[in-house]
Amino acid sequence: MNTVIESPEVIHSVPEDTARLTVVDEYVAGTVEQIVRALKNDQVVLVRGVTQKNADDIMFDVARSFGLDHKLEVEAGFASVKGHRENVGKYFMTVNKRDDYHFIPAHCEGSSRMRMQLASFYAVENTTDGGASILLNINAESAEWGVLRELVKKCKVGSKKLSPFEIMKLKMMHGIELPGDLIAEQDVIISEGGSPVDGVNIFNVLEQPKKVYSVILERDCYAYWDTIASYDFDSGEGYLDLLRSLHMLKIPDDMRDFTALDNAYARRVWKSGANYNSLFTSKITQKLMAGDLVFLNNLSWAHSTSNWSPESGRRKVLAAFA
Ligand SMILES: [Fe+2]
Repeated sequence: MNTVIESPEVIHSVPEDTARLTVVDEYVAGTVEQIVRALKNDQVVLVRGVTQKNADDIMFDVARSFGLDHKLEVEAGFASVKGHRENVGKYFMTVNKRDDYHFIPAHCEGSSRMRMQLASFYAVENTTDGGASILLNINAESAEWGVLRELVKKCKVGSKKLSPFEIMKLKMMHGIELPGDLIAEQDVIISEGGSPVDGVNIFNVLEQPKKVYSVILERDCYAYWDTIASYDFDSGEGYLDLLRSLHMLKIPDDMRDFTALDNAYARRVWKSGANYNSLFTSKITQKLMAGDLVFLNNLSWAHSTSNWSPESGRRKVLAAFA
């Protein structure tokens, strides 16, 4: 038995806006052009009745239209190297593992350093009593960008002159790009990590979010990167409240501590105090069914998944990024 918790005091304030969703009922000649046009208008696109093989082909063609085909191949190549995902087909991969009853709070895939532009999800099956995708359109005008922080790796070099090989080592092993990632006065140090280069100290720091250029929209955007969303306790609580207000939260009967539902809880390190709902202008709630293929701009839309009762069915949704 599962209980759906209702909380009347929470006023749900991210409006559903189905006008931002373009639905394509069938994959035919011209579908890719239609998807590209819709993405340029910052729409989310849902194509129905797609085979897994076609999902790969469509993703490649859409990515190529934006000059992202190389990035698509690189991201698919990295998936299995990093170990937390498995490739399925050419470009799609399994989503991150989650425990029973876990929800995936809203985030844009990756970080400001990875700059993934395009996200796609493909449902192989979804027969659970939840597992809905909630896609949230980022509010670039929100004042909350001033209080959010991104967790990044930066370093202190002191007076040492680094060799090109040492600079490359820092980039390859830690994603540190010099001179941009030298620690700055306003960065808040969370922890110190091991360094592959003598005389260089590496730190995990919280830095102010910066806009990243969207090749789809041809403008700079704030993205709610995983490296922002998954380190802030208020992000998990905000999403929990959102699911609760939508009556979409599934809770096992014996559960008292709701943080156990948050897939990112173990990574969180600080509280931003940000007003969660004001980060988004609108949302699209869509339970993906077998053969559904979704495209969204990874900078202007955050993705998330509601939880489900483990015994209620099976859910296999794949992801691809470019
Ligand atoms: Fe994700």
